[in-house]
Amino acid sequence: MTTIPVGIVGFRGYSGAELDRILSKHPRVHPLLLEHRQDTGDRPEPLHVGGSPRIPCTPEAAREVGIEIVFLATPVGVSIELTVQFLAAGIRVIDLSGAFRLGTVGTFTRWYKEDHSAPHLIAEAVYGLPEFYRKKIVGARLVSNPGCYPTAANLAIRPLLHAGIVNRAAGVICDAKSGISGAGRKPSLQTSFCETAENFSAYSILNHRHVPEVLQNSGLEEREFSFTAHLLPLNRGILETIYVRAERVESAERILEIYQAQYAGERFVRLYRPGVVPDLFSVARTNFCDIGFHFDAPSGRLTVVAAIDNLVKGAAGQATQNMNILLGFDEAEGLL
Ligand SMILES: NC(=O)c1ccc[n+]([C@@H]2O[C@H](COP(=O)([O-])OP(=O)(O)OC[C@H]3O[C@@H](n4cnc5c(N)ncnc54)[C@H](OP(=O)(O)O)[C@@H]3O)[C@@H](O)[C@H]2O)c1
Repeated sequence: MTTIPVGIVGFRGYSGAELDRILSKHPRVHPLLLEHRQDTGDRPEPLHVGGSPRIPCTPEAAREVGIEIVFLATPVGVSIELTVQFLAAGIRVIDLSGAFRLGTVGTFTRWYKEDHSAPHLIAEAVYGLPEFYRKKIVGARLVSNPGCYPTAANLAIRPLLHAGIVNRAAGVICDAKSGISGAGRKPSLQTSFCETAENFSAYSILNHRHVPEVLQNSGLEEREFSFTAHLLPLNRGILETIYVRAERVESAERILEIYQAQYAGERFVRLYRPGVVPDLFSVARTNFCDIGFHFDAPSGRLTVVAAIDNLVKGAAGQATQNMNILLGFDEAEGLL
């Protein structure tokens, strides 16, 4: 079968490298790596192993080889600049950064603390969480791939809110932990080995930039939602423990029914029976989001645990799911 060329910018980074790994095995596309600088040999590479071909990181070079979709696994500012250029050249974009995830420029400026040089594209971008926005993704020119923490949080919280069983006045708490690859490959003191190995720490308390993504997609208000991210001394994986006060619901079986109704037919959300919760091994290197919970009916205490691999369902796998939708393929192609 002939395969379609797709481009990856940021292929040396953790999300871009994961994209290359997934797309190289995809039966209907082949990745081309868009090179923004000459290789400096910062990674050991074996001789005689043919990796994905490289071309210059320009819209002209991409058009010349027939690329219709480009993935941007790059920092926010780079993503904004390149999105403008690739869209102008008629190439669709799946952006993995936070550049286009928030609905308004004001929200972006508040949480990212920088100006946005292409505010007109914020309204156009479609939020790429297929389980909720599949129909909108189909015809999009620009898909904004969700953040890793918000992917798990929204999949776990939104069905409960929509079913009207959350006591919102009591607040929702999301206690989130991520492996260190979540911070990217660029070195920093905070993520260096001696600061993280055998350590465990909380960060960005009450001002994490993923908070507004959860609010705008779940329907929670900022005052109702407490989110704390933690740095786990592991390479990859996200586990979120979410504390909810449930109301108007009598049994754990009813809560399971709510999740089952929401995710019937979804291949990347797996539910556990009440009283059983996933761990990181459940989802490692997969595109699954696993959700389990415990419920104490007399008090209404509901504790939900959601797990994903931050580089797969939290980044490259979800981006591939979005690409499959854009190209009219089976959504799970190359991902199961
Ligand atoms: N890591 C995660 O779990 C995760 C999850 C969801 C979303 N994201 C988002 O995905 C994006 C990439 O994250 P990451 O963790 O993979 O980052 P990363 O490991 O730090 O990689 C960033 C990549 O961007 C490239 N880059 C930097 N400046 C560039 C430029 N001017 N032109 C072209 N490429 C440039 C870098 O290329 P060189 O190495 O060649 O300089 C590098 O390959 C970020 O916006 C991040 O927020 C990450």
